[in-house]
Amino acid sequence: MGCLFKFLTAVFAVLCVTAGKELSSRAAVRKLPEGLLFGAATASYQIEGGWNASDKSPSIWDTFCEIPGKIKDGTSGRDACKSYEYYQRDVEMLKFLGVDFYRFSVSWPRVLPSGFADKVSQDGIEYYSRLVDELLANGIEPSVTLYHWDLPQSLQDLGGWANPLIADWFEDYARVLYDALGDRVKLWITLNEPKQFAIYGYGKDVFAPDINSPGVGDYMAVKNLLMAHARAWHLYDKEYRPKQNGNCGITIASDFAEGISDSPADVEAGNLALDFEIGFYSHPIFSTTGGFPEKLVKRVAERSAAQGFPRSRLPELTKDEIDFIRGTSDFYGFNHYSTRFYSAEDYKSGMFEEPSYDDDVGAVSGRGEYTTAPNGYTTKIPAGIRKALNWIKDSYNSPEIMIFENGYGDYGGVNDPDRIDYYKAYLDAILDAIEVDGCNISRYTAWSLMDNFEWAQGLSVKFGLFEVDYEAEKRTRTAKTSALWYRNLIASRTLDPADNPKYEKIEF
Ligand code: BGC
Repeated sequence: MGCLFKFLTAVFAVLCVTAGKELSSRAAVRKLPEGLLFGAATASYQIEGGWNASDKSPSIWDTFCEIPGKIKDGTSGRDACKSYEYYQRDVEMLKFLGVDFYRFSVSWPRVLPSGFADKVSQDGIEYYSRLVDELLANGIEPSVTLYHWDLPQSLQDLGGWANPLIADWFEDYARVLYDALGDRVKLWITLNEPKQFAIYGYGKDVFAPDINSPGVGDYMAVKNLLMAHARAWHLYDKEYRPKQNGNCGITIASDFAEGISDSPADVEAGNLALDFEIGFYSHPIFSTTGGFPEKLVKRVAERSAAQGFPRSRLPELTKDEIDFIRGTSDFYGFNHYSTRFYSAEDYKSGMFEEPSYDDDVGAVSGRGEYTTAPNGYTTKIPAGIRKALNWIKDSYNSPEIMIFENGYGDYGGVNDPDRIDYYKAYLDAILDAIEVDGCNISRYTAWSLMDNFEWAQGLSVKFGLFEVDYEAEKRTRTAKTSALWYRNLIASRTLDPADNPKYEKIEF
């Protein structure tokens, strides 16, 4: 009898774990948690255009797009979605969706044409001020990113993120914006996705500013950007929070990484890859000890020594710097798209350039058994977002997580059931993370409000809820079926697996 009871209890426990922890409840209609806010996001260079309007100076992306072969389809963000001219229409689209907030970014060279705070562009400031006012008048909260990759070219000419003085320049720039908009903006995001602009811009030549210094320049940028972020946060915390009462933090690309198999070598490779992918930027800010992840530090030191460098290629963080950076975010800004699986076994020495970030990671990555849909760009692996959210919760003592980007890239079309399916599956996993795992998630943001300039992919890849007609002078926007779906989700505050809106032509 005792044995049978134990057996039944064990079976029941397994069933509970399976139902709660492993399987998503995708068949069920789910209520959205009270208080969870919904938004949509964009970034200045990707949508604004107006690249030389008024006194704006070129950004590193204006320069980069001029280099033949850098952008897949030879396009640029010079005119993009023309939001600089037609921002009111963007607000109408947001209103149509019914979002709580709009995450947009400020173009540094539009506000400070020399890059420095010696002269503030009145036209630049007024543009953002009008946008903020328009949002507030429509009941939409402005959430502002200070830096989403469009550095003034003038500052790049002085080294950009590889120059430690960028911490001064960034703090000065942040002050200008806190002064100009902080009476109305209560949510500030200092930097968008450090990995993407440091590793791809300074360690590879796939992003601006095209500095190909693998395993050296990229790591210099990582240290400097952490210092710059911390300076902007401390400034807000000390001087502005007392009078403006808002929040300030960073948003980190948090795609998940794990071993491709259960072999100890692959599991270890997955863990180290997580340190490189996320921990590199999050550990210094969110961990109790601060500093870079220990295993990452050890790995880069070992590789550097083996390569004949007299010191590690990873710049050291002094004790004071560690203390200065630690704790400098009021929330964990979380951007997530997909998951990569790492194989230690497939890795062969000499397979990657040396030195380099990829060689330091020391494993081969791929999408495992998952495939990308024929018209798709993003690989759908919803279990990964739940794992990433839990990794952050467990590693950093359950911080408040604001999801600032999540979305699906494809090659176009206003009827986009794959995008809707992606959003449903990822939101379902997020609800599991909240309700079953206890992750503290306060915001969800769809990337992106509309199709836009997708960096090195140019206009070829689309992430928008609205299609943009780049042939039309005014860049007409058309709601995709995913926009209708997102609108229903927000209005009904339910995630309904059966909600598949029919396409109807709605233009802005
Ligand atoms: C960036 C966005 C980009 C999106 C889709 C993120 O890495 O922050 O600017 O458009 O991913 O690739």
